[in-house]
Amino acid sequence: SYVVTEACIRCKYMDCVEVCPVDCFYEGENMLVINPNECIDCGVCEPECPAEAILPDTEGGLEQWLELNAKYSAEWPNLTSKRDTPEDADAFKGVEGKFEKFFS
Ligand code: SF4
Ligand code: F3S
Repeated sequence: SYVVTEACIRCKYMDCVEVCPVDCFYEGENMLVINPNECIDCGVCEPECPAEAILPDTEGGLEQWLELNAKYSAEWPNLTSKRDTPEDADAFKGVEGKFEKFFS
C-alpha cells in the first residue's frame, strides 16, 4: 500500500483525498492516514501531495509510518472530499521533527 508520512503533519493539504479511487484516507487532527487494507496501490495520490508526504511501502524505512497508518485508519473517520487546508499549512511544509511536536 501507499503510506502517509511525517511531512503531512500540520500541512494536511488534502489533495490526496480528491484523487483516491477507493476513498481510503482517514482524518486525524493534524494529518491523514491511508488504510493499508483498502489501498489498491494505484499510486495516483503520491504526486498530488504538495508536501511529498505519500510514499509507497516498497521504500525502505517506513515501518513506523506503516504501523501508524494501519492503527489510526481503524480509529479515525473516513474522509472523502477535500476541505480547506490549515491556514498555516505552508509554514509547516518541509519542517522536521513534526511528529514529536505535533502528533496527537
Ligand atoms: Fe488511494 Fe491509490 Fe493512494 Fe492507495 S495509492 S491511497 S488507492 S490514491
Ligand atoms: Fe497530507 Fe499531502 Fe494529503 S499533506 S493530507 S498527504 S495531500
